[in-house]
Amino acid sequence: MSPDAPALDLAIESRGLTKRFGTQVAVAGIDLAVPRGSVFGFLGPNGSGKTTSIRMLLGLTQPSGGEVSVLGDRMPERLREVLPRVGALVEGPAFYPFLSGTANLNRLDTADPHSSRRTRTDRVASALDRVGLSHAAGKKVGAYSLGMKQRLGLANALLQPRELLVLDEPTNGLDPQGTREVRSLIRSFASEGTTIFVSSHLLAEIEQMCTHAAVMSAGSIVAQGTLDQLRQVGETRVRVQTPDADAARHVLTGLGMMPTVETHADADPWVTAPVGATPLKAEDIVLSLVGANVRVRGYAIEQPSLEERFVALTGEGFDVVQ
Ligand SMILES: Nc1ncnc2c1ncn2[C@@H]1O[C@H](COP(=O)(O)OP(=O)(O)OP(=O)(O)O)[C@@H](O)[C@H]1O
Ligand SMILES: [Mg+2]
Repeated sequence: MSPDAPALDLAIESRGLTKRFGTQVAVAGIDLAVPRGSVFGFLGPNGSGKTTSIRMLLGLTQPSGGEVSVLGDRMPERLREVLPRVGALVEGPAFYPFLSGTANLNRLDTADPHSSRRTRTDRVASALDRVGLSHAAGKKVGAYSLGMKQRLGLANALLQPRELLVLDEPTNGLDPQGTREVRSLIRSFASEGTTIFVSSHLLAEIEQMCTHAAVMSAGSIVAQGTLDQLRQVGETRVRVQTPDADAARHVLTGLGMMPTVETHADADPWVTAPVGATPLKAEDIVLSLVGANVRVRGYAIEQPSLEERFVALTGEGFDVVQ
């Protein structure tokens, strides 16, 4: 979009994408860069702006500002060219409960001006097969479980070959078994080269499925990159257990660190400090302590977990179950 953009092939790219509802800023100028072929997690707590952003990407709602390209084309201007190449699952499509799974997909496919009537029967059957619903194809959707409805929503996104799947909380409301099934489907789509953009408020889910992620907090992206890059953002800390807490604190302060002391009733204190701007590697700091006659009973190098980092970034806890 701009001449200085990196020569990375992006499936989704946004600049300053913004959505206001009255005076409320739901999405506050986000710059997304979703590489082709990635499984990109869009992670954020409730109300952080995930669904609103996704609706803008898909041309379902007009941005208040900024711009977005999907598969190389500007949205919403090129919506007609882009949408046939994108499968989407956003807040559950509306299915008729009195129609079967097959009949619902036939109906949705008929409403798609890009679909071919000649291949419809085969495409519907193969999409149902793909999501493991062949056995329930003739059953009324009103009798489907939540997981089956969610899978039918995925089947709908798969009625055409897609370059990009955009899935808004596809495991929401599913039991652990349904969740596992949907995750493994997503992995199998990705293994065929489809780019996947998937939102979730579950950190563990993003860690299990995704190659990349962006973290949303109150309408802004607070971190974005590969999962490995995100893991490296946090600050390493060292912890020393020693009866010579004052001396240890003195040494660490001399190395430019800012130590704190935790005392324990029945054990030696722990002196803890972020490595910070210290020139030494964490594993060498212990040598300085020993060199200054600090008796070291325990030494640990701690890297904050992805969860601790995201809590720090968003100021909110993530649900990490499942
Ligand atoms: N149509 C609308 N009118 C007014 N405010 C809205 C509208 N849609 C969303 N919002 C507000 O925008 C903010 C972001 O909502 P959004 O649904 O995008 O969040 P989310 O990250 O998808 O949350 P969740 O995890 O609950 O799905 C919220 O404060 C919400 O109340
Ligand atoms: Mg949402």
